[in-house]
Amino acid sequence: MNINNKNIVLISGSLRKDSYNTKVLKSIEKEIIRQGYTTTFVNLNDFPIPFYNEDIELLGIPSKVFVLKNILINTSGLIVSSPEYNGEISAVLKNIFDWLSRKSVNKTPKQNFSGLKTIAIGASPGKNGARRSIERLQVLLKTLGVDQNILSYSLAKASNDMFDNKDEFLIEEQKEIIKELISNYLTSINSLRVDLEKSIG
Ligand SMILES: Cc1cc2nc3c(=O)[nH]c(=O)nc-3n(C[C@H](O)[C@H](O)[C@H](O)COP(=O)(O)O)c2cc1C
Repeated sequence: MNINNKNIVLISGSLRKDSYNTKVLKSIEKEIIRQGYTTTFVNLNDFPIPFYNEDIELLGIPSKVFVLKNILINTSGLIVSSPEYNGEISAVLKNIFDWLSRKSVNKTPKQNFSGLKTIAIGASPGKNGARRSIERLQVLLKTLGVDQNILSYSLAKASNDMFDNKDEFLIEEQKEIIKELISNYLTSINSLRVDLEKSIG
């Protein structure tokens, strides 16, 4: 975690062009920028990494894994959204975190994730708003070593007409929920920064 900059990484776990999860993240990205931080948006279509396999690892870690590692090392926060597929997060998302968790990728285990402030997001056309995959995502992120207080956001009954053509929410209620969520999130990152600065002296 890099406390010296004000950049948040957002990762969408859906590869779909018109993904609701990506639209929600884009809407959140705009709110983060309005509140004074910069962002790095990760579209996993740009990271075609093979399924984790120890044999491939022995031959050499795919270079894209290191690209993502370097993006994460320089962030002060991480926001991840995932579709719910049969109650689980997407396989492509799980795969990238499996690669990033390997000791051969990080000098020290969990270097990328230690203490990182995160938000777990799920959007679904179903009425439960991907609640099960949000829980799975929280377990995974905690296992990787992020700050245990993970915020969450769920969107039920997702549909295209909830968003404008720039992927901004059209619904005032959701805009307000996101505004408050991001305000609380950035406040927790800022107070972590103050604590760290005090401990350094
Ligand atoms: C294989 C598969 C399994 C799914 N399982 C669930 C599920 O368990 N719960 C749910 O709410 N939606 C489920 N869905 C519907 C997805 O929520 C829906 O396709 C959603 O649009 C995917 O997210 P995206 O719009 O970000 O791509 C499933 C869809 C697929 C293709």
